[in-house]
Amino acid sequence: MTDKKRVLSGMQTTGKLHLGNLLGALNNWVSMQDEFECYYFAADWHTLATSYEDTNDLADNLADLGVNWLSAGLDPGKSVLFVQSLVPEHAVLHLLLSMLTPISWLERVPSYKEKLQQVVNKDLSMYGFLGYPVLQAADIVIYKAHFVPVGIDQLPHLELTREIVRRFHDTYKRKVFIEPEGKMSEVPKLPGVDGRKMSKSYGNAIYLSDSSKEMKTKILNIVTDPARVRKTDPGDPEKCVAYSFHKVFSPDDENELTIKECKSAGRGCVDCKKFLSVNIFKYLEPILEKRAYWEQRPKEVYDILKAGSEKARKVAKQTLAEAEDAIGFSYSKKLLG
Ligand code: TRP
Repeated sequence: MTDKKRVLSGMQTTGKLHLGNLLGALNNWVSMQDEFECYYFAADWHTLATSYEDTNDLADNLADLGVNWLSAGLDPGKSVLFVQSLVPEHAVLHLLLSMLTPISWLERVPSYKEKLQQVVNKDLSMYGFLGYPVLQAADIVIYKAHFVPVGIDQLPHLELTREIVRRFHDTYKRKVFIEPEGKMSEVPKLPGVDGRKMSKSYGNAIYLSDSSKEMKTKILNIVTDPARVRKTDPGDPEKCVAYSFHKVFSPDDENELTIKECKSAGRGCVDCKKFLSVNIFKYLEPILEKRAYWEQRPKEVYDILKAGSEKARKVAKQTLAEAEDAIGFSYSKKLLG
């Protein structure tokens, strides 16, 4: 047994991982592995909530996620790495929690309202999509997680999770779960190559799976200070997207020089981005090397996820049994053993 606090988080299997995902979520996950008992999973059922019609890439995307996790430094010797759909207890708890979750709570979740309006190319007026946060609540509480590292957009889901936990405890007069807390990290802000948020849907992302040639081209196309038209015009680094990348990937002393040479028009933007490219590659090199390694070993990646799922399942089964007992299904254990 360990007295470390437990951390849980999940990532949808929506496809290629980009640098924003690496810096925003994955590095944070990696950094928690020593201090906490970490459970990290591929939320493949959650992927279905918005991609139920298009499931051709489900298996490939899971494999790729596993490769990226291991390459970024998630360590199956430290953390439990697993797959949601291999732990069906999540679905049973989701059902039980759904019985005491008012529809009005779900309808006021901001991400639900926004996506319903914004996503026009598919029909999201589905039961599963409305219940997405209830499944997320089940994911979290079935491991009695104390902390959930997530982005700000997920905080309403955590608040809802706490409300569902309180309602369960009030209703069945027994404390089975833990009210989880969000854990925000100090993440460096990395925009997309055009300056908007880095996102698959904007076409402005640099992917870990890009070839080095593709990456270089993308880096050289990062938007710079629009007011700096000619090389002889002085620029403003604070208005330059490439400089936001420098801040994340280049050493401080180099950045001081970059600011000076940009403001005095001493260095052109193309040269500046060539320096940037060198630094980004230096940063990514160990990760890309590991990617090349794991990509050749899909069977091992699957085995790691399978073993993690078996471990997770033991914990999930135990909590589910406690929840069923609290509700009154005391006979299920007796009848099924
Ligand atoms: N909703 C999360 C996202 O889109 C993924 C997720 C599913 C999750 N279940 C979770 C995150 C449980 C944290 C905990 O990013």
